[in-house]
Amino acid sequence: MSIPDEFIQELKSRVDIEDVISNYVTLKKSGNRLVGLCPFHREKSPSFSVNKSGNYFHCFGCGAGGDIITFIRKIENVDYVDAIKIIAARAGMDVPEGKADDGLRRLKNRIYEANREAAHFFFDQLMKNPAGNNALKYLRGRCLSDSTIVHFGLGYSPPDRHQLTNHLLSKGFKGEELVAANLVLQSRNGSGKYFDTFSDRVMFPIMDLKGNVIAFGGRIMTDIKPKYLNTAETPVFNKRKNLFAMNFAKNHVKGQIILVEGYMDVIALHQAGFETAVATLGTALTPEQANKIKQYCEEVVICYDSDQAGKNATLRAINILRPAGLRIKVVHVPNGKDPDEFIKSYGEQGPSRYGLLLEQAPNDIEYRLSELRKSFDLNNADDKVKYLTQASDILSAIENPVERDVYSSKLSDDLNVQKKAMESLVERGVRKEQERAYREYNRQNRYNKMPDIIQMNPDRNVNIRAARAEEAIISVMMLNPDVAVKISGELKPEEFVTGFNRNIYTVLLKRLSNGLDVSISDVSGDFTVEEMSMLVRLIDSHVKENNPMSAVSTYISILREEGAKLTPSQIADADNDTIMELIRQTQKKKLGQS
Ligand code: UTP
Ligand code: MN
Repeated sequence: MSIPDEFIQELKSRVDIEDVISNYVTLKKSGNRLVGLCPFHREKSPSFSVNKSGNYFHCFGCGAGGDIITFIRKIENVDYVDAIKIIAARAGMDVPEGKADDGLRRLKNRIYEANREAAHFFFDQLMKNPAGNNALKYLRGRCLSDSTIVHFGLGYSPPDRHQLTNHLLSKGFKGEELVAANLVLQSRNGSGKYFDTFSDRVMFPIMDLKGNVIAFGGRIMTDIKPKYLNTAETPVFNKRKNLFAMNFAKNHVKGQIILVEGYMDVIALHQAGFETAVATLGTALTPEQANKIKQYCEEVVICYDSDQAGKNATLRAINILRPAGLRIKVVHVPNGKDPDEFIKSYGEQGPSRYGLLLEQAPNDIEYRLSELRKSFDLNNADDKVKYLTQASDILSAIENPVERDVYSSKLSDDLNVQKKAMESLVERGVRKEQERAYREYNRQNRYNKMPDIIQMNPDRNVNIRAARAEEAIISVMMLNPDVAVKISGELKPEEFVTGFNRNIYTVLLKRLSNGLDVSISDVSGDFTVEEMSMLVRLIDSHVKENNPMSAVSTYISILREEGAKLTPSQIADADNDTIMELIRQTQKKKLGQS
């Protein structure tokens, strides 16, 4: 029996890896990981960890690893399908039988089409139908110009919850396609009737980078909750991987992206000429989104609401953006306003005033220090010590020693303490950080020492350089979906030198050509439990590149260089004619690369 991929996606989006594993392992928080005693081997100190953002687990003691499905397969000793059934049963979901996987691609296309048709419908309701008058007044009342409304393709969903459904059914869409798109809901009272998901809301289409409409946000015009209703996860919509207005922003970036909290903030900023503003889709910023931003620029200006929730979200965003290699600035909009309200409240001067806020924005370190300072009375000696100690933690996490030094000097000047004392606090923190990094390095190095990697990939031993390049390519693909597609167009499986890695690559290519994702939490249907462990070890030990695409070209050229070499046994065993032919081929391959 094959289980439709969309069901597995749905299952994974509904089920929390921490919940599933907590049934078997007591997990504790440690940094941004959850750790516990590995259930797959005997141990006294925990080497088992769960990566929530990546949706996988990994034990660096015994090497076990994988997604939730792999976890259940291993711990319950069941096959792939039964593992899914177990997880689904616990989540109260029915496993659909039968349908073939390649229907997914067609379904996705139908959803794109339905979404586009729905966006037209909502737009017409807003602009051409008297029913949309109130909504149009609402948007104009929020100072949006008609050309802004058109540019963002805003719309209105009428109160009668049959209009969109009937419209789309009349255009030939099937009820179940519309349900899959989450445009339409199906009544559960046995009648099975369809009705519109969105009603009496201002509609904000959400687009991917290619301009496909992948989802909608709908804002109510009264105080009723929820204020915004967003499309649920669908086969084309993953709110953790997309950003609102990135499709526009990417064409305007000159070094910088502005990150705000709300759809309306984005739209107001674009209208005011700040066309690099983007927003997350009702969730906290994710590493996937940070990596997406990094593909277009080096710097992010965080401009969240200035209330406590906004401040907490700012700190969380900093902790996601720094590891992605982005420089960070933080704009604090005064008087508890959000960027939209700020710009509006100054009328014509709004844009230039906002421009000044951007220009004068402190970087993330300055911002964190000034926020920290607010909770201490620096005339009090105790408080001063506490402030400096906590400040030194912030500074010791800075990688660049010159940058650390600049802030140490500034702090010791400002607070009138000896610079030496400040420095020694910071240095202590740096040493702690280095020890941590060293342990991390050792942990990562274990991948190469695992004995079973040689058993699974016997070619690896004699082709270490090629195998490492292959492994890096596989890791980059699994960690960067956009890059994966580009690699798949460029690198053929035959170019892989080691058999095991070539097989993995072939499977990934096949998934990509079927329109399926290749991140670790998506692929467990195609690999054995042992292969999944290997893959998790690979990506967990992969040191992230700042620019994966250019790193990949290097890996590919290393791989081709290695592939062009003759093996010692070829050189020893070949007869004269064969060796001449091999040499000719080698020359040709080399020419082909340059
Ligand atoms: P805000 O309430 O700050 O949004 O929520 P906003 O854009 O400023 O809204 P206006 O100005 O009142 O119209 C920030 C973001 O959080 C998500 C939306 O993405 C929103 O833009 N959100 C908020 C939801 O998804 N659901 C909600 O009920 C509220
Ligand atoms: Mn707002």
